[in-house]
Amino acid sequence: MTDRFSFNLKHTDGRARTGVISTTRGEIRTPAFMPVGTAATVKAMMPESVAATGADILLGNTYHLMLRPTAERIANLGGLHKFMNWDKPILTDSGGFQVMSLSDLRKMSEKGVQFQSHIDGSKHFLSPERSMEIQKLLGSDIVMCFDECPALPADRTRLNESMQMSMRWAARSKDAFGDRPSHALFGIQQGGLEQDLREESANALTEIGFDGYAVGGLAVGEGQEAMFGCLDFAPEQLPTDKPRYLMGVGKPDDIVGAVKRGIDMMDCVLPSRSGRTGQVFTRNGVVNIKNARHADDPRPLDEKCTCPACSKYSRAYLHHVFRSQEMISGMLLTWHNLHYFQEIMQGMRDAIAAGTFAAWEADFHAGRANGDI
Ligand code: GUN
Ligand code: ZN
Repeated sequence: MTDRFSFNLKHTDGRARTGVISTTRGEIRTPAFMPVGTAATVKAMMPESVAATGADILLGNTYHLMLRPTAERIANLGGLHKFMNWDKPILTDSGGFQVMSLSDLRKMSEKGVQFQSHIDGSKHFLSPERSMEIQKLLGSDIVMCFDECPALPADRTRLNESMQMSMRWAARSKDAFGDRPSHALFGIQQGGLEQDLREESANALTEIGFDGYAVGGLAVGEGQEAMFGCLDFAPEQLPTDKPRYLMGVGKPDDIVGAVKRGIDMMDCVLPSRSGRTGQVFTRNGVVNIKNARHADDPRPLDEKCTCPACSKYSRAYLHHVFRSQEMISGMLLTWHNLHYFQEIMQGMRDAIAAGTFAAWEADFHAGRANGDI
């Protein structure tokens, strides 16, 4: 354990990196995948099960928790870690992105965003200062700057103005965060797909100085090819000696492509959300468990997987409980998906350390069907 937040880059292989982030709540092995625990739970999973899949850190959301049960209530109950029974690190997103996608009747100004709750229509305000206050009340280990993320495609003028405002908000976030060496504050790069705007954003953030840097504003409708095109330059515009976090990504092949391009951390609802809709990610491709052809299939989802869903149940059982809308369906499929995502991360960490990332990546793609399996 350590009393300071730090990042130790251990090996690189091409642009891919592996290392360890040290926090007061434990180490985060990178590249890291963070399961999403929006409402103080990774849906359908007990915290010890999330840890058993190999996750070192979870993501929580300012937006959802400020509305319900409120940050003040969580602080009075001892903080988010205690509240949700997760003692490893937690990263919290700052709320700006979720306000844009979820809330009603938003009004944005230089000061911040006024909005109405998607739950009950009540009125709220978020700003860099209020977002920092909420993330402190939650007890988040890695705090994200308050930013604005435009949906793509967006025109250059709009992307530029939005990026400039996010950079002013990043400076206000840093001021409001203050001096807390055992906690981390990450800046968020914006600028859409424009290389020069991304460069300007990276320089502005580096000038302010953060403990880590996120690539924001991607996976918002541009498609994988355009995202990879941006990741061919964006991570390298950010400091080498700090963690780089790609927000809201992605599918297994997005994750592998991002790590190949120098990303150290990612988060996505995909493995947990898909677990509840019957979509299963395996080393051979995607399985749709609701498909009738699984009804009599005694085989496991994935023969090589050691998760509870694969080691103890047949496809026929998983199909049955999904069709019957039994709760164990979401539990088992979520467990499998999270386990598989963590297995990919471990595979990449080992391959980068061994200098065999290219071979690992070829192997990863070789086994996969394009359609449903
Ligand atoms: N989640 C996915 N993308 C983004 C982004 O650009 N900003 C924030 N704050 N969260 C995100
Ligand atoms: Zn499994």
